[in-house]
Amino acid sequence: MAATNDGHATRHQQWYDPDLEQVNPQIRHLLEKYSQVPSGDVVKHVNAIRARGFASNPYPCIGYYRFLNLTLLTHPLYASILSRLKQNPSAVYVDLGCCFGQDLRQLVLDGVSSAQLIGVDIEGPLMELGYELFLDRQSLASRFVVADIFLGNAQGEPWTELVATGADVVHCSAFFHLFPLAQQIQAATVIAGIVRKGGVIVGRQSGSVKPAEVPAIKPGSTSFRHDVSTLVEMWERVGAETGTKWKVEGSLDEVGINTAKKNAVEDENSRRLLFTITREE
Ligand SMILES: C[S@@+](CC[C@H](N)C(=O)[O-])C[C@H]1O[C@@H](n2cnc3c(N)ncnc32)[C@H](O)[C@@H]1O
Repeated sequence: MAATNDGHATRHQQWYDPDLEQVNPQIRHLLEKYSQVPSGDVVKHVNAIRARGFASNPYPCIGYYRFLNLTLLTHPLYASILSRLKQNPSAVYVDLGCCFGQDLRQLVLDGVSSAQLIGVDIEGPLMELGYELFLDRQSLASRFVVADIFLGNAQGEPWTELVATGADVVHCSAFFHLFPLAQQIQAATVIAGIVRKGGVIVGRQSGSVKPAEVPAIKPGSTSFRHDVSTLVEMWERVGAETGTKWKVEGSLDEVGINTAKKNAVEDENSRRLLFTITREE
């Protein structure tokens, strides 16, 4: 993965949990009902895919098994996103930085046509591994687009095609927090270009009660952790630069934050930042 794969194998082990012995009920349900993985094979299957994904792309979200958390399913807007996509067959969902594409598969299990769903990631091999995790290479009609958000229209198709189509729902979890603030603004400006009026950007990321640049997983780099007020400011800047207007709603909580035992990517100020950013104009 461009942001992490710097050859520091030993350091990466800091964010590699031991193999799981059980998985959460939501991902078990998805793997059993959608992928038809036999109940007794689920844990072994997940551990094997995690090891392969981490070997090529050592992200904490893979090493710590965060891809097993179906973020979108727990987002307060999930029910409304689901009915928006189900009621309007021309509504489009884009999962930006989708990695294995777990949230996209949950939407399919919940009745959305897979043709309405698009996954975007800079790493084609992770999206490929998603087919192996969910065993749906033959059945899934969703498109997976390899694109670098920072290149935007400069990379031509298929990004320009996404801009032309537009999206009603963009899911963007554990993505912005990879980058320093200046790059987050750049990425958000590009993402703004694909959101239809009235559309939403939803997700979660690492936030902080003390918003600041913190050391990022790539040595020498930083990433910015927002609270709600800095997120509002960022989208005001994006709006000003793109001639659009955004309503930002968010909350900080401790869901999924390991307060008892600090780890390699969290500190005492860390919180989960859950957000909904609506394009008003
Ligand atoms: C931390 S993972 C989060 C994956 C997933 N959204 C989740 O919540 O489990 C971040 C993802 O963003 C992708 N990514 C990183 N830089 C990117 C870029 N410049 N353009 C597009 N995707 C990028 C990575 O390859 C990775 O799959």
